[in-house]
Amino acid sequence: MAKEFKRYMITTALPYANGPVHIGHLAGVYIPADIYVRYLRKRGREVMWVCGSDEHGVPITIKAMQEGTTPQAVVDKYHAIIKNAFARLGISFDIYSRTSSPMHHKTSADFFKHLHDKGVFIERTSQQLYDEQVGQFLADRYVTGTCPHCGNEAAYGDQCERCGTSLNATDLVNPRSSLSGSAPTLRDTKHWFLPLDRMQPELERWILTEHKEWKTNVYGQCKSWLDQGLQPRAVSRDLSWGVPVPLPNAEGKVLYVWFDAPIGYISATKELSPEWEKFWKDPDTRLIHFIGKDNIVFHCIIFPAMLMAHGGYILPDNVPANEFLNLEGDKISTSRNWAVWLHEYLDEMPGKEDVLRYVLAANMPETKDNDFTWKDFQTRNNSELVAILGNFVNRAMVLTHKHFDGEVPAIGPLTHYDQQTLAELPRITTAIEDNLESFRFREALKEVMNMARLGNKYLADTEPWKLHSTDPQRVATILHIALQITANIAVVAEPFLPFTAARIGQMLQLDAPQWDSAGRADVLPQGHKLGQAQLLFEKIDDTTIQAQLDKLQAIKAHNQRMAAKVEPEKPAVSFDDFARMDIRVGTVLEAERVPKTQKLLKLQVDTGIDVRTLVSGIAEHFAPNELVGKQVLVLANLEPRKIKGIESHGMVLMAEDLDGALRLLQPSSPMTSGSTVG
Ligand code: MF3
Ligand code: ZN
Repeated sequence: MAKEFKRYMITTALPYANGPVHIGHLAGVYIPADIYVRYLRKRGREVMWVCGSDEHGVPITIKAMQEGTTPQAVVDKYHAIIKNAFARLGISFDIYSRTSSPMHHKTSADFFKHLHDKGVFIERTSQQLYDEQVGQFLADRYVTGTCPHCGNEAAYGDQCERCGTSLNATDLVNPRSSLSGSAPTLRDTKHWFLPLDRMQPELERWILTEHKEWKTNVYGQCKSWLDQGLQPRAVSRDLSWGVPVPLPNAEGKVLYVWFDAPIGYISATKELSPEWEKFWKDPDTRLIHFIGKDNIVFHCIIFPAMLMAHGGYILPDNVPANEFLNLEGDKISTSRNWAVWLHEYLDEMPGKEDVLRYVLAANMPETKDNDFTWKDFQTRNNSELVAILGNFVNRAMVLTHKHFDGEVPAIGPLTHYDQQTLAELPRITTAIEDNLESFRFREALKEVMNMARLGNKYLADTEPWKLHSTDPQRVATILHIALQITANIAVVAEPFLPFTAARIGQMLQLDAPQWDSAGRADVLPQGHKLGQAQLLFEKIDDTTIQAQLDKLQAIKAHNQRMAAKVEPEKPAVSFDDFARMDIRVGTVLEAERVPKTQKLLKLQVDTGIDVRTLVSGIAEHFAPNELVGKQVLVLANLEPRKIKGIESHGMVLMAEDLDGALRLLQPSSPMTSGSTVG
């Protein structure tokens, strides 16, 4: 960052209010942003952080359809769940708003109107996909089909989640309506387009030459978009749910959700502060968007293009997008319920907010996709938080209470080792700062833990517990130093582990120390009275972890059952057709493989009518001797036919399970051969 900024405007992607927030959202967006903003605040920088629920768009209306309710009811429900869960995890937005708010409707409509009146848009009648059965235009996620770039058959009408390409619904090969499953037709409809093609040179200059410092994943995606050549993009939709297009003769048209949602950042700022303009219009403000990788094009190209076209707004200075977090090796998915949901975690693991924050920050998918596993969660808690951080703070506190009545003892002459140890504090602090300023959160967190490691090593090396009777003055110095390290940790850990930092603060009777205390050896004055020692972390046992794994296993089993395809019903048959079939209970007398075939068995079956030969394609499922003596159902009057030269008279009835396994159909208890079925 060459330029010096006066203040920060931080935004985090507005989560869709069509489901709760999960660990993938947290690790990708909200944990890094919370760490960053808490750090900035502690440094006394002027900062505003806004977020809110994204309450428009097709995912919401689809969810309403699935739940048999209205879009408004869906967003009310999930907005409350999301907002509350964020607050419980200590995610410290300055405001958590929502895009159904009147302020947002007005702000985004005015923005559109301004662009319209300036003549920015191209008005164009084009053909859009239309579902004849439902009587509705299909945009975005109402359509699925094959991605023209990578061949993914489950691409959506707005984006392919496999290759990340942003699409128009009409780009899809073999489009299908998600409403009726039918193949859509094309119909004329008028929309407003943002002429990204005309803005390409300006965007190129801004991104490719002025923002070479962006993360490689972000810069790379932008470059590939620009290299493909930008196309005009429709910013309205034929839907009933959304911000109505603020023009006459625009009934049934709303703003495209990706047009209105990012303006939500501005609406939320307005809602919170009468001084909102200085955060959005003053070039001394540093605008930073925290997002996941699927949002890159919207935040790096489309929203900036909107801001440029409007005029008067600043552009993002950085967009530190993260990759994705997987769960136990599988892609997290709201629709497949493959996730650890924040609100459930908070209920099931009370008091462990910081454990989750820690594990997600430590596994943050900064440069590549990463995996969350419950085993790793347990290990990081037990061997890092408990064994390193908790252990050190506890030893410093307990020893001080034991030997110095809970008062910070006097510091005496320093050994070389003491000096070396204290010199680490400013070094580690600077390393944390450098890493945070460059959005390297995992490295920053490692350095925080290095401070606790430093403390542990210092106590292990100096062994104050052995010196009390012989050299109490030395013990005083050691504990004084250990307590200063503890106080440093209370400062630098706060952005990452705010609950823990607050508890260390209570123990030390240190009230919300600012960042400039970090790196110093005199945070706590001699004689300062400490509070009670409390345990910061407790071990997590195997049973707790197993319960979480079992829960995921049950979800996986459920999904597998749902994914198995049930064959559609065949056309109706008359009763007479059915009655013409002669189905009998038979008994297998002999069975042998048909030579030189993989699948065929030759059976001798007593049908009650006769003993006859049947050839059946079940050799891969049953061994011949398994069948002998078994009762089966036989379609007796099927026309005889020759199979591999053997005349087969009838057919043995089988049931095929969804996974392909075959089962015999038998009476529930033995019956006389020749008994009829019907
Ligand atoms: N709701 C979008 C998502 O979950 C993110 C919207 S970000 C905003 O992918 F910029 F549009 F607000
Ligand atoms: Zn694709």
